[in-house]
Formats: sequence, C-alpha cells, structure tokens
Amino acid sequence: MTLSGNDVTREDRPRTFVLYDKEWDLLDEVFAPIYRPSTNVSLDFLDLLTPGPFKWDSMLEMGSGTGLICVMAALAGCERVVGADINPYAVENTRLNAERHGVSGRVTTRQSDLFDGLAEDERFDVIFWNSNFIWAPGDHKFESVHEHAFLDPGYVAHRRFLEEAPKWTTENGSVLLFFSSTKGDLPGLYRLAEETRRSLRIVRRQTIQDGTDMAESEYLLIEVSDPA
Ligand SMILES: C[S@@+](CC[C@H](N)C(=O)[O-])C[C@H]1O[C@@H](n2cnc3c(N)ncnc32)[C@H](O)[C@@H]1O
Repeated sequence: MTLSGNDVTREDRPRTFVLYDKEWDLLDEVFAPIYRPSTNVSLDFLDLLTPGPFKWDSMLEMGSGTGLICVMAALAGCERVVGADINPYAVENTRLNAERHGVSGRVTTRQSDLFDGLAEDERFDVIFWNSNFIWAPGDHKFESVHEHAFLDPGYVAHRRFLEEAPKWTTENGSVLLFFSSTKGDLPGLYRLAEETRRSLRIVRRQTIQDGTDMAESEYLLIEVSDPA
C-alpha cells in the first residue's frame, strides 16, 4: 500500500462529508479533509474558523483539493478565489463544492501544475498552499494522482513554488506556505530558500497529536518573500 493509499481505498470513505456544519462532495482520488488534520489547521491559520471578514480580497489556493478552503474563504467575503490543482478530480471537486455552497461566482478553478495554468497578468492578495510537504526521492514514480497530495519527489514543486509564487502577488500581497516540521524536511526547505534567494518567516505554528500512533506533529504557516 502507498503512503496515501488507505485514504482512497478504505471502505468507509464517503461520497459526501460534513464539516463546519456544511455538507461537502468528496470525489475519488481527492485529498480527504476528514482523515487528516491539515485542512482544519489551515483554516485556523487563515482565521477562517472564527467569524469575521476574510483578510484579503483575492486568493489563489494552490492545491485546492475538495475546494473546502476556497469555499470557506468565499463565504467569509473573499471576492475572487482561484483554486488550482494538478489533480483533475480535485479541480472538479472544487467546482462542485463552490456550486453546492452558492459561491461559483467567486470561486473559479484551474487544472494547473503550480502557476502554469494562470493568465500572465493574474495577481493575488494572498497565495496559500497546504502543500505535499513529504519529501520523496527525485525518481519516485507516482502510482496515482492522489499521491500528489502528500509527496513531492526531490522537492521539485517546493523549489518552484518558492521561486515563482512571489511573482504572482499584488504589490503588498503575501505568499503563505503550510508545512510540517515533523513530516516535512524543514532544513531542506530552508536550503531551497537560500538557493532561490527567498526569505522564510514562520508566522503561525501548532502542535497536535495525529496519525494512527497519535504522535506529535508540528504544523507551520511560513511566509515566503523575495527580499530583493
Ligand atoms: C495536502 S493536499 C491539500 C488539499 C486541500 N487544500 C486541503 O487543505 O484539503 C495538497 C494538494 O496540492 C495538490 N498539488 C500537489 N502538487 C501540485 C502541483 N504541482 N500543482 C498544483 N497542485 C498540486 C494536490 O493534488 C493536493 O490536492
């Protein structure tokens, strides 16, 4: 079984789930927020679990999965949300949940390897990615599109994200990377930042017990910027 396999094949995997008093569609091969804590911690880090307006007018959510974060941001008042994902099922899942919650006018989707599917002049007040922060050897072959939710072979996508994301923000926009210091390679991420001349600043952190062994995991919200 692959690292992520059980999330997809488990017999009790539902077609819809309820979180935050709302029902959500869940397609096959899409990262399921019910089995992992990172979506919930992401919402917390973005201040989307407490009432109040969203801090930014536009957001690019890289790797939107089911679209839950896109929809919650739109419902909190974000006027323009783009959900991008390399996984075509995730793109469709984001579209379905935006429609289900009446925010299709605010949430659009792109099937995209990172920024490849954006128009050249698109800019965002915030770019957020709950990333596939688990390192894998560079020659790892994906067995399914779902695996993209967890693994980044050789941290190739993380390197590109650090390099390219700051170019897609509005003038005072922010790039926020959700990462785990216990599951991901944080020293490796800092090395990539040095190589790509980016600065990293940890703006939020949370430690929780998760997984079948209930081990402690630390999650971070890291602001990525171009000091130049
Ligand atoms: C940990 S999941 C997060 C899903 C969702 N945002 C959530 O919090 O529930 C990471 C997502 O990033 C997507 N992803 C991985 N590599 C990508 C890439 N190169 N370009 C775009 N999306 C990517 C995966 O397909 C997956 O949907």
